[in-house]
Amino acid sequence: MDELNQLDELMACRLDEGRKTLEPCSIVIFGASGDLTARKLIPALYHLLVEKQMPAPFRVVGVARREKTDAAFREEMRQSVQQFSRTKTVDPAVWEAFAANLFYCQGDFNEPKTYERLTGVLDSFGHPQLRKNLLCYLAISPTQFGDVVENMHNAGLLMKEEQADAWQRVVVEKPFGQDLASATILNNELTRFCHEKQIYRIDHYLGKETVQNILMFRFSNSIFERLWQRESVDHVQITVSEKLGVGGRGGYYEESGAIRDMLQNHMLQVLSLVAMEPPVSLHSESIRDEKVKLLKSIRPLRPADVAKQIVRGQYFAGQIDQQPVPGYRQEVKVRPDSSVETYVALKLFVDNWRWSGVPFYLRTGKRLPMSASEVRIQFRQTPNVLFAAQCGPKLDTNAITLRLQPNEGISLRFNGKVPGTSLQVRPVRMHFSYNTEFGAYTPEAYERLLLEAIAGDSTLFIRRDEVETAWGIVDSIRAGWEGKPLTNREFYAAGTWGPMAAEDLLAQSGHAWRDPQPIS
Ligand code: BG6
Repeated sequence: MDELNQLDELMACRLDEGRKTLEPCSIVIFGASGDLTARKLIPALYHLLVEKQMPAPFRVVGVARREKTDAAFREEMRQSVQQFSRTKTVDPAVWEAFAANLFYCQGDFNEPKTYERLTGVLDSFGHPQLRKNLLCYLAISPTQFGDVVENMHNAGLLMKEEQADAWQRVVVEKPFGQDLASATILNNELTRFCHEKQIYRIDHYLGKETVQNILMFRFSNSIFERLWQRESVDHVQITVSEKLGVGGRGGYYEESGAIRDMLQNHMLQVLSLVAMEPPVSLHSESIRDEKVKLLKSIRPLRPADVAKQIVRGQYFAGQIDQQPVPGYRQEVKVRPDSSVETYVALKLFVDNWRWSGVPFYLRTGKRLPMSASEVRIQFRQTPNVLFAAQCGPKLDTNAITLRLQPNEGISLRFNGKVPGTSLQVRPVRMHFSYNTEFGAYTPEAYERLLLEAIAGDSTLFIRRDEVETAWGIVDSIRAGWEGKPLTNREFYAAGTWGPMAAEDLLAQSGHAWRDPQPIS
């Protein structure tokens, strides 16, 4: 590390020092045989132990229907960590310590007997906090959420009333409903047996370092925040592109489409962090209040606006990395005449004082040429004199790009003189790269999220009014699509940047998509 870097490190300011120490607890995972447990949850918990971040003591109990011994469950999970963890290696000593705290409880989620067995397992730990401090992770279908919380409550494992010496929290995965009506029903089911403060709704994008950094970038720097408003910003582009198709998830995707899978949650979360007002404090409720306010300021979309402001698309067969790939309609469990969107692009307006008149363009899609997520703040053109007068549209406008993944970083694009005797101006770039600055340590989103839920900090989780407001936006878009199958203009070849209509959407306002660049 160079001297300058060492000095910068000395200036680091810790914000979480006042945080409560982690209390001993048991993490109960419902859906222990599922993909999420194997790919994300167990590897994340294992890494937290490697990093010495788990509470002491702790236990993890997997609950699922299949008959299995603790030993068999531990062995399966060891293989999952080996295969899916970010380091791909298992430290035998840490694994031993982890496995000794890993248990299995067989049972149907709707059977009271399952919860008796679970109580027996928790009692066997012989520690009051491991019995009563429970993080219940519902890695199961939302149709089972209601059953699980009700049975947990009936078994005396989940208490709605605040307790002086114990806590229970419920972590739920997406999809949280299919629309506003079903999300409201789910919320009502959950809140019969636990308080909103006990519910931790996951959006894994909020666990990403770069997404968390949006607030730091905006509110710990005076030079950027004063530019963050309608007088300086021409428009904002948020792109979340994926090379992958729907793979084996055709059945799920037929029900969700890009708008429910990506927009309702990840994209609207990123938008709210990028555009929200400064919160009054760093307290979770203050931050979440501002996010909800932002979502509520999005100009409502009537069906006629949907036709003008929203573009959907679906990929047909094409090439990714020079390899042929099938179209969406040829994917497993997809209807051959499906009109489900694998791409969506939107033009939204945030009707508040700061952003009045500034278009926010959002797009996400599967089978696009590269996997990258970024937010681009595109600034206004200089006055039409001097260089702008001579170069016209060839003079690039300034931009700040927050690259969320991969090659995480932040770039500032501005114009400079090309050295030499001729007079030439062209864009140049100042770039901050996480890897260069901090090295390659990037914890998985789930590590951070699990740790926050164990610590009882809900900042990185979605509050009820947030999820419901986001569904309201999605519902209004879906209402505009109701009964309208895809037209020819809405298809795009796999490996391209989406349908032509998405280009037209921006061109109408004299804008153009700026595609993410492969950054080294
Ligand atoms: C999930 C979606 O929530 O997010 C997937 O269901 C998508 O379809 C994934 O691929 C993208 O997450 P990430 O972290 O890879 O950008």
